[in-house]
Amino acid sequence: MNKAVRKAIIAGNWKMNKTRPEAKELIEAIKPLAKGADCEVVVGVPFTNLETAVEATKGTNIHVGAQNCHFEKSGAFTGEISADMLVELGVEYVILGHSERRQYFGETDETVNKRTKAALAAGLKPIVCVGELLWERECGITEEVLGKQCKLDFFGITADEMKKITIAYEPVWAIGTGKTATAEQAQEACKYIRTVIAKMFDEATAEAVTVQYGGSMNAKNAAELLSKVDVDGGLIGGASLKAPDFGEIIRAASV
Ligand code: PGA
Repeated sequence: MNKAVRKAIIAGNWKMNKTRPEAKELIEAIKPLAKGADCEVVVGVPFTNLETAVEATKGTNIHVGAQNCHFEKSGAFTGEISADMLVELGVEYVILGHSERRQYFGETDETVNKRTKAALAAGLKPIVCVGELLWERECGITEEVLGKQCKLDFFGITADEMKKITIAYEPVWAIGTGKTATAEQAQEACKYIRTVIAKMFDEATAEAVTVQYGGSMNAKNAAELLSKVDVDGGLIGGASLKAPDFGEIIRAASV
């Protein structure tokens, strides 16, 4: 992390986990661990827990995020939630383009781009996920994949808007598999993403944008991953559901 120029963000991606009472319990357990953290702390909770999370985190340094939003303001989109609806609940962040959305729910770079623009227009801070599949890495096209995703996902966005976006580099092969990218692989990819942003926008924007690593980050490997200069935090799935582990990652990001 380079905290002198960028904000380090530790964000939990709870995915489809936790009922409302469980969410409240987990947030209460995270609160003392997050207190005084020298990084931004975000909990990305299921839609049904957003109100509970906003209420439970009032007056704390924990910020609340959703895990998706639709690109239209309203209309006949059964099952979808708009960015304005999230803002109205007091939500600050939104995770977009997660590989599980891309893999299981037909999310494409085009819809990620539209959702990102809608989130920005509503005043949300998007956390946009990019990352290569295992066979893409094995074929040696990781950079092409990351470059293509960034170019498409951030098409038509201004440099000022880009500075409000967090990019989560999540190699798909590392998500929920216990197989973490090495700190060197994470650094290399996060740095590459920054060079793409520099080409698309400018150096200052590339230096300002937060690029997280995600994929089996845990209490044990967080410090090493976060020690890398271009890794500005983490998007954490499994380990964010256990307060002591999430607390340890926050601690690692605060040194
Ligand atoms: P994981 O998930 O930490 O469980 O690998 C990360 C993510 O999907 O954001």
